[in-house]
Amino acid sequence: MMSLAEKLYREKTLPFEELKILVETEDDGVILYLRSRAEEIRDESYGRNVFLRALIEFTNWCKCDCLYCGIRCSNRHAERYRLSPDVILSAVEEGYKLGFRTVVLQGGEDPYFTDERLIPIIEEIRSSFDVRITLSLGERSRESYERLYNAGAGRYLLRHESITASHFARLHPPRQTLDGRIKALKDLKEIGYQVGCGFMVGSPFQTSDDITRDLLFIKEFTPHMVGIGPFIAQQDTPFASYPNGSASLTLKLLSIIRIMNPFLLLPATTALATVRGKGEIEGLGYGANVIMPNITPKEERRKYRIYDDKAYGGLEAAENVERLKWEVGRLGYSIPVDYGDSRVVN
Ligand code: 5AD
Repeated sequence: MMSLAEKLYREKTLPFEELKILVETEDDGVILYLRSRAEEIRDESYGRNVFLRALIEFTNWCKCDCLYCGIRCSNRHAERYRLSPDVILSAVEEGYKLGFRTVVLQGGEDPYFTDERLIPIIEEIRSSFDVRITLSLGERSRESYERLYNAGAGRYLLRHESITASHFARLHPPRQTLDGRIKALKDLKEIGYQVGCGFMVGSPFQTSDDITRDLLFIKEFTPHMVGIGPFIAQQDTPFASYPNGSASLTLKLLSIIRIMNPFLLLPATTALATVRGKGEIEGLGYGANVIMPNITPKEERRKYRIYDDKAYGGLEAAENVERLKWEVGRLGYSIPVDYGDSRVVN
């Protein structure tokens, strides 16, 4: 087993069956080895820096019906909201003052936010603040992605969710397809965005074969960023009674992903912090190097319930960024006031 971990470190990939053994292992010695190699690689690629992104959840209206997600369109209990351009701008301003140089505009697939409505918001942010803009708005047409890119958004997060078509199909209604998702990811990359993909750990029906395929897909697709976090049940969804994904598996996968992809930006996600207190700090010890504090106004933040008990006022909250800086400083990391561009080149 240890020799497989060493081979992964040397070759940055493994054949499917060998990689799957590492996905399944619970051997403490092997996990400790993966962690320390992952940390070492992260430090070589990016230094001991943690890059911050200010997350603005600006709409929880969504036309999709993903079976795991609390803001799915058929959830009648979700309290829906949209932030006005003014409120979005003041959140960006607050984030800028706190030292953030990337803002992530994240939302459901909300048809209200046409290109005509989004472009002025993007342009205004770009002309008023020295920040990079990441979008996370789900699937749109290639033309729309192009227009938003030309307006000044340079990065896009769109998790692939599962590269196994049969598994993807069990997580989504028939009109959402894996082919559509992959096409969107390819379009984004061709247009020139820095792209993030990713998946949930421990989503219903997921097997270690599925995870292994996800890891190999990530290697092949060479995204600039990868977001993974444990699945967390949401009470108003069809998956309400499924168990949450494992924090320790998520942490181990962070290390494997880091070893396979030395230059990735790898966030320790809010979902990880939700299942495990201070999970975002712990993730750094497994090779992660990004934290995305939430800067959504508190009233709306509460309503962006993609899963239950979502971490809300802890280290992942932008208003606590000083505490976050202290926590990471204690572990020898610094938080640069920096765009935090990806060093993946392709
Ligand atoms: N548990 C964990 N993660 C979730 N996401 C959506 N719903 C859940 C849930 N119940 C993730 C999806 C999505 C991202 C924004 O949040 O992977 O892409």
